[in-house]
Amino acid sequence: AGAASPLDSVLRAPNQEGTASKEVTILYGSQTGNAQGLAKKASKSLENKGFQVTVSSMNDFKPNNIKKVKNLLILVSTHGEGDPPDNAITFHEFIHGKRAPKIDELNFSVLSLGDSSYEFFCQTGKQFDARLEELGGTRLYPRFDCDLDYDEPAAEWLAGVISSLGEAKSGSPALTQAAATQTVESTYSRTNPFRAEVLDNINLNGRGSNKETRHLELSLEGSGLSFQPGDSLGIYPENDLTLVDQLLEELKWNPEESVTINKQGDVLSLKDALTTYYEITTLTKPLLEKAAKLSANNDLQELANNSESLKAYLEGRDLLDVVREFGPWNSSPQEFVSILRKMPARLYSIASSLSANPDEVHLTIGAVRYHANGRDRKGVCSIFAADRLQSGDSVPIYIQHNENFKLPANPETPIIMVGPGTGVAPFRSFIQEREESGAEGKSWMFFGDQHFVTDFLYQTEWQKWLKDGVLTKMDVAFSRDTAEKVYVQHRMLEQSKELFEWLQEGAHVYICGDEKHMAHDVHQTLIQIVEQEGSLSREDAEAYLADMQQQKRYQRDVY
Ligand code: 2AM
Repeated sequence: AGAASPLDSVLRAPNQEGTASKEVTILYGSQTGNAQGLAKKASKSLENKGFQVTVSSMNDFKPNNIKKVKNLLILVSTHGEGDPPDNAITFHEFIHGKRAPKIDELNFSVLSLGDSSYEFFCQTGKQFDARLEELGGTRLYPRFDCDLDYDEPAAEWLAGVISSLGEAKSGSPALTQAAATQTVESTYSRTNPFRAEVLDNINLNGRGSNKETRHLELSLEGSGLSFQPGDSLGIYPENDLTLVDQLLEELKWNPEESVTINKQGDVLSLKDALTTYYEITTLTKPLLEKAAKLSANNDLQELANNSESLKAYLEGRDLLDVVREFGPWNSSPQEFVSILRKMPARLYSIASSLSANPDEVHLTIGAVRYHANGRDRKGVCSIFAADRLQSGDSVPIYIQHNENFKLPANPETPIIMVGPGTGVAPFRSFIQEREESGAEGKSWMFFGDQHFVTDFLYQTEWQKWLKDGVLTKMDVAFSRDTAEKVYVQHRMLEQSKELFEWLQEGAHVYICGDEKHMAHDVHQTLIQIVEQEGSLSREDAEAYLADMQQQKRYQRDVY
């Protein structure tokens, strides 16, 4: 997964200037917490080697201080259509802007996280890497671009970075602190998931709804896992059994034949490997390029070479389509599965509070089913949860901490929550938590979905919280109950005066749910509200929100 050969790093020797060069600054930009987790890990490793490490989110770093940094490590993910994560936006803009300083003294290295099924794979990391060099920095180790399964390349990158930094002579190893924190952490993690028992699994939508939204309750008993409102849960799903059977049939493979699945030499039957270990739904450019080498059919290579038709092809197709369209396949099952990506976990915003529901974690999962390119298609994890998980079953999970979506530290701070559809999830957790802790701050919920009668998720809970005063205000927008569509942002606009008053009182604003349409439109509406009620120019209204974001008063959990 290295973007460039490690040999590149020796072309220009890093600056070595006495003990000061043993200080390392780690900046991360992270949306879901992966880059953040890796940054913390890198920080621990470097401290153990005696380096003096400062680790911070890009958002918390004074951009101009880049001039004083000697050794900089950047760990950053890419979001949506090649965008930086929310907590990297300001720093990314500064570094790429005209005001960015010359940094001739800087040694740097970039680790970028991404998903190769997206066109702009790892774009943010690539941009930082190129720009830091342009500003005069010296690359102390080549950039690594990681796909979803980032553990191994990230570890390799860190090892390379550490050896390029050389020996740290000063500073004392932070072993005691590392040991102390380790004892309180659960042994379960993304790479060692806990098998959680399913306690309950119900459909929240009423009969006749266009939607199926599952409320899933899992047990954390015995795991030692804990979480805060705003954190997410990772689930490792299994692939659809019919899809696996169709693949095996199409390739004329024996389901019981053994394949080796990893470098450690673990072995599974083909059927199990395709069900639990490999991703067989999402297609990526690298996958098609590798597949082209295994096929006698030249069309696949041609498709992989043409970025426009490739982009169109990847949408709404899976491995079975490729196998059917581009045979004959002249490879062994072992060769074939080796080109597949490992099944990535799916992240869901947690819908419960641990203090309100000890030893439990609740999720709100929208079942994804659609028809595309001649076949019915299913979302891997949502349909696994909806159709196959029953009480008593168990499922591999882990907690993904998310510092970018947190209740205000002060329980008296007002909160405004915008969460249509499954975006409601973290706010159920927020309010459960505030109820449990007796927090006195005002709270205002905006919820929306298609129909009042069938789609008002957790309706009775919201009504009870309103009655008890745990929730101060609630506005709902049911888009398909009226001739003209009403969305959450229309409700916000109707009450723009009061909403702006809340903002002026220091309210935090949270948005959860669909990114491309909803979160974007809600953002535009917030600008409009601030512009209108604050009598500001559009530019100043945008700056007002950027400032809120900087102060962590405006947070998003969007997908
Ligand atoms: P629709 O499907 O009727 O268009 C949860 O899915 C709710 O979000 C639905 O009521 C859906 O409406 C609505 N929704 C769709 N696009 C939206 C947008 N751009 N802004 C806000 N809500 C939206």
